[in-house]
Formats: sequence, C-alpha cells, structure tokens
Amino acid sequence: MVHGSRKETPRERRWKTPPPPFVSGANVTTADRNALRDAGWPTCWSGAAELLDWCRPFDAVLDTDGTTRWFPGGRLNASYNCIDRHVEGGRGDEAAIIWEGKLGETRAYTYRQLEDEVNAFAAALRDLGVGEDDVVTLYMPMVPELPIAMLACARIGAPHSVVFAGFSADALATRLTGANSEYLVTCDGYYRRGTALHLKSMADNACLSVEQDVEQIVVNRLDDGRSTGDHHSYADLVSDHDGAEIDPVERDSDDLLFLIYTSGTTGEPTLVGHTTGGYLAHVAWTSYAVFDLGPDDTHWCSADVGWITGHSYAVYGPLALGAATVLYEGTPDHPEKNRLWEVIERNEVDVFYTAPTSIRAFMKWGSEYPEQHDLSSLRLLGTVGEPIDETAWRWYREHVGGGECPIVDTWWQTETGGVVLSTLPGADRMRPGAVGRELPGIDAAVVNEVGEEVAPGESGRLVLTRPWPGMARSLCDGSGWGARRTSTVRNQWQYDTGDNAVRDVDGYLHLLGRADDVLNVSGRRLSTAEIESAIVGVEGVAEAAVVGGTDTMKGSKVHAFVSPESNVAGDEALRTRVRSAVESAIGSIAAPDSVTFTPSLPKTRSGKVVRRYLKAIANGETLGDTSALRNPEVVGELESLLDE
Ligand code: WT7
Repeated sequence: MVHGSRKETPRERRWKTPPPPFVSGANVTTADRNALRDAGWPTCWSGAAELLDWCRPFDAVLDTDGTTRWFPGGRLNASYNCIDRHVEGGRGDEAAIIWEGKLGETRAYTYRQLEDEVNAFAAALRDLGVGEDDVVTLYMPMVPELPIAMLACARIGAPHSVVFAGFSADALATRLTGANSEYLVTCDGYYRRGTALHLKSMADNACLSVEQDVEQIVVNRLDDGRSTGDHHSYADLVSDHDGAEIDPVERDSDDLLFLIYTSGTTGEPTLVGHTTGGYLAHVAWTSYAVFDLGPDDTHWCSADVGWITGHSYAVYGPLALGAATVLYEGTPDHPEKNRLWEVIERNEVDVFYTAPTSIRAFMKWGSEYPEQHDLSSLRLLGTVGEPIDETAWRWYREHVGGGECPIVDTWWQTETGGVVLSTLPGADRMRPGAVGRELPGIDAAVVNEVGEEVAPGESGRLVLTRPWPGMARSLCDGSGWGARRTSTVRNQWQYDTGDNAVRDVDGYLHLLGRADDVLNVSGRRLSTAEIESAIVGVEGVAEAAVVGGTDTMKGSKVHAFVSPESNVAGDEALRTRVRSAVESAIGSIAAPDSVTFTPSLPKTRSGKVVRRYLKAIANGETLGDTSALRNPEVVGELESLLDE
C-alpha cells in the first residue's frame, strides 16, 4: 500500500485522497459538489433530468400533492435516450455493448447496430400483440439479447420484468403470475462452468403452471435443437422485421419502465416498479457523478442484468450517457482465474464495478492473476452489495487499481433504483470501510426506534428522509407494485431502508447490515420467510426457521433449523429433500448451507420463534438469558447438536 519511501501517517491510513489527475478530469469536482449542496435538492435533480432528452419538458421537479411524482408533465422514452440520440449525435459507430461469451467468443454492438436490432425486435413484439403497459417477462442469461429486449420493451412502452436465469421454474411461475405477464422471452439454454443448462424446459414448466396463456420467444444460445414446445424464434423474428423503424413511444415521466422482484421480509417475493423519468434521471446522473462516466468510457458492471445492479449500471445508466458497457457471460474463474483481468485488458475497461464477495474470492485466489495483465486502463473502481472490509478494500485498490484508482463504495437497494450513498470520486476523500455521505440531493439519517436521529458513533436504523428520483413507485404512493416501507415521523417523511448504520464524527456512514429478516448471500438478497415456506412444504417437516450465519466469503450463509414431524427421522434423506425443495422453489442460490434438525424451535411464551437465539447458535455465540422462552431446554439441545 505504501508508495515511495515515506510511511503513511495514521491519518493518511484512515483517509485516502483521489489522485490529482483523476480529480482534475472528474465530471464532478469539489467546487461542483459544493455548488450543488448549496443550491439544494431541486437544483441537483433538475440537473440530473437535464442529462436526458425529453419530448415534453417537465413542469416541476417534484410534485408531492397527494402522491409523489418526479418531473410531472415531462414525457420521454428510455430507449430513445439510451440509443437514438447518440446515433443522431454522430456516435452511431461507437461501441454500445461489448459482449464476452462463455466459450471465449466476443460480440460488439455499435450504437447503430443496437438501434437496428432494438427496432426490429420492438416491431416483432408489437406484431405479437404487445401493447403499451403489457408486461414482458425476460428470463435470460447474460446474452446481448437481454439488454436488447429490455430496450425494445422500453421503446414500445411495455414494462419488462427480468427474472434472474438462476431462478427455478417455480420462481419464474410466481413472477409471471404476480406481474400478470403474457409474454416471455427466454433462451434455449446457457453454459455455466462449461456445462449446458436448459432454460427453455424450465420456462415450459413455469408456463404450464400459470393461469394465463404465455407467448414464448426463444433466443438460441446452445442451438442444440432441444428446444421444443410452442414458441417463436428470436432470430427469425428479428430477421423478419429487419429494417423496421418503430417510433419511440412517449411515456409520462411517472409511467412504469420496468418491474423487478426482490426479497422482502414476507414469504412472497416483492414486486418493485420503477418509473421512466425519475429512474432514468437518477441512474444517468449517478453514472455521471459516481462512476464518472462519459461517452468515451468503457464501463464494466459485473453484476448479472437479472438484478437491479445490472439494470441500472450495466444497461440504463451507461447507455444513457453513450458509454460502452461490457456484458460478461461466464463465471470469474472459468476457464482460468485470470478471466476477468483478461477481459479488462482486452477491452481497455475504464471503470470496473463489482461486489465485496467477488473481491474476497479474488484475494483468496491470489494477486498473481491480476498481475499477469495490464490493467492500466482502469481509472475508477466501485463496489456494492454489502459492507467491504478494509483488507478487501486495500487489496482491490492495490492489485486491481494499481494503488492509484479511487474506489467508490456505493450503497443502494432495489427500492432506491440507483446509488444514494457514496463518495464522489473526484471530490471526496475515501475512507476504507465507510460508504461516505449522502449524494447531493439525498437526505439520510440514522435513527432510533422512535425515529429520532442518534448521535455520531451510535448505531441505529438508516432512513432516507426525502424522496429521490429513482425511488420505487410503491414508495411514492403506497399503492401499486410492492410493499410500502415509508412512514411519517413527526411530520417528517421517512423511508426505512431495513439496514443498520453508524455515522462517524466526519459525517461518513458505515453500514452494519440488515436489521430485518433479509439475508445477503454473496451480494444477493434472499428472504428467510421465502426459504422457510419452501422447507415447510416438504413432507415430514413440521416447522422451520432460517437465519443467516456469518461467512467470510459469502457474507451470510443460509442456516436452516428444521423440526421434523414426530415419527419422522431427521436424517440425510430428509436433509436432501429440504435442500432440493428450496432449489426448486427458488433456485440453488438459496439452498441451505447447513440444515440442523431439532425436536422443536425456541419460542416465546406467545409462540413466536426467537430467531435471535438461532442466529447466535448458528454463529457459535453466547446466548444470554433464555428464561423468557417457553422451551429453554431446546436451546441447550441445539447447542450440543452443533458441537457434534
Ligand atoms: C441491500 C440491498 C443495489 C445494490 C445491490 C443489492 C446491502 C448494498 C451496500 C454497500 C453495505 C450494502 C444493504 C442493502 N448493500 N450496497 N455498499 N455497503 N451494504 O441490492 O438486492 O436490493 O440489496 O444490500 O443491506 O439493504 P438489493
């Protein structure tokens, strides 16, 4: 970490200043940031909206009369903003999407090629009967046709609902039903660690179990002729509509751009809706200010497009700014552990954005892998998904960022649409382990149970105290898609993020993880209730409780406590059935890492399962007083079980 002969002082160790060449070329300088803070949030967000082209200008930045609406009166199209305007501006031959396939193949789309294919597919969707506001489900791996389909939907005003390809047929069925979606774009299959997985058969199973008729469109990735069932071929549709031009549909700022599922605290996945104007302005501005992106940059957000991170920073944000975005199909260690660094070197990636769970894996594999490659094109690194510890932060900066690159630790959620807490790389000092402050235009606080702000150094719940443009539509009016988690405390609007945090004396926020029953496994959000409901569906299981155990690589691991019915043995066979039930209800990402059988679960006198104890047991921690339990003896039994 130490460059030159001088040792770092303790203060320098705590704070890192961005390198002068970065600062002088940054999109947002200290002076810009100060001016924005002084000007106040309406100026910040009208500036964000001005990064976009509007067909009709908005009448106001925010309307809170009844419901919260961003940029009311404004009309725009997201596909136009992400494609056409760059072609019209003379950048048609510049790269838009750079795809790195699993088998080593690469494919690049210029903005003009992207425009052609998006138009052709939009025309095909229309011909199939997709109208404005019809929800199109996209169940696809990391192939270029995924962002193309998203943008084609956006072009005709049809909200997309992307379902992560690692989800099971049951999970897809729940999501098709919840969004009442009658159109599904999928793939015949894809490769995972060199093995072909057949997605189409999962899609068929899902379609069989939903009530509505679902029209399927299939992209051939494996092309092994195994896709059966009624469907249209993506390739045929696109070639039949070659040369079609579809006028981008003017959408109200508040109209839905897409739906996305996330894990809430209930047993059902939560459906979140994002708007066209507010969301796009938010992700465009944060791509500009936090990722410092411009049209000459190549940005690589390594998240799967199936999650919000990929929507915002692999697709909409970078394309809105006319940058090139890298889409990588494979896994980071296949065929070799240097694969990512090879992709960065080959494509001269400027900005790389990944999750701490991946950084910990890179660290474990060793610095010899990044060292084999010239990573000097990188000028900024980002991280997201969970708190990053100082060791991982320093390793990332040293071995990927050449000891020089600024790092932005960005905190946000599916519900926030885009980054809300982060340093600005050209304006703020970095503090490893802290995300920084609120971005200009954002107000946050750390509060106690009654909603009062706590003193610096004290932990509490992180709340956002003012609406922001990327906010999920369900947070705007409490109706429509998704659960409402806002409240008014002493006339102060608050959105409860579900995370605990501490603000330090310098105003920087340190995140402490989820306070609710949501687990963060390898940067992916899972609900304990959803996993439990899959487990209790297994024959022979009476009750189950799922908690997060700490895992140095994955953040959390899934620990299930299962109580079998009397006369049913808690044996290997049941354990396997429990695991496969979760795999088929949700997907293998949610399969329990450990299953502990117990005659009963620890409960309060009123019968509520006390997860706190189970969590302590799973993590080998001391339990404190258990006398308030109805069945304190079970805790002792559980502890001894785990010791075995
Ligand atoms: C949860 C949101 C959109 C980001 C990807 C996940 C955790 C996110 C950070 C960070 C500490 C973080 C929080 C949050 N989280 N970023 N930089 N530091 N924790 O989106 O699936 O909606 O999960 O991820 O716990 O609530 P998500």
